[in-house]
Amino acid sequence: MKVVVSLGGSVLSLDNPGYMAEVASLIKKVAKEMDIYVVVGGGKTARKYISTARKFCNDERYLDRMGIMATRMNAMLLNSFFRKRIPHSIEYAARMKTPVIMGGTTPGHSTDAVAAMLAAKIKASHLIIATDVDGVYDRDPKKHRDARKMDRISIKVLRKMAGEGWREAGKSAVIDAIACRIIEENAIPTFVLNGKKLEELENAIYGREFNGTVVEI
Ligand code: UTP
Repeated sequence: MKVVVSLGGSVLSLDNPGYMAEVASLIKKVAKEMDIYVVVGGGKTARKYISTARKFCNDERYLDRMGIMATRMNAMLLNSFFRKRIPHSIEYAARMKTPVIMGGTTPGHSTDAVAAMLAAKIKASHLIIATDVDGVYDRDPKKHRDARKMDRISIKVLRKMAGEGWREAGKSAVIDAIACRIIEENAIPTFVLNGKKLEELENAIYGREFNGTVVEI
């Protein structure tokens, strides 16, 4: 079995090294039984660098490259437990022995899209989007107290929610539009969940029932 996990930067925090150690031990455990690839997001670090640099520069590709560096810093942090090479492309990642830990690749999309591209390339059995909320909601749960989590959502509806194309550096919807397109075109079974809840992450990795959202292809 092959699984790709997009671990949102919002889930990893420098203030919570204990969580990082727990994720690393989960990856080690899973790697004994299947091929696991983890694509790490840039989180707050990426957003802070991008929003500060945006005051001086409006070159989106330049800003994206700063974001990519933040994702690779976070990947290096998680990789401290593994001390492996961090691939800069999905082609290289696909050739590596697992577990693979990586960040972003090229400008114009988020690490969710990298994870979707990698899942398509290696023909992963499933893709997990581990974010900082419990799944896909009908509206932003951080802004609306009455937002409702959906146990299932069709990829078509999710694509409508995500909009079209890449917006700007540091900004994305639940899953970015490019990731949604790749998921639909390659019919990748996709699960969205809260990456802070390691039991749910483990359940989804092993294909067991989990609390989150199943994306129907
Ligand atoms: P993230 O994947 O962390 O973006 O990459 P995000 O949508 O803010 O993710 P969450 O909120 O942690 O889930 C950070 C930024 O780095 C650039 C983009 O500007 C992105 O917004 N990036 C990342 C790229 O341009 N290409 C990549 O392959 C990855």
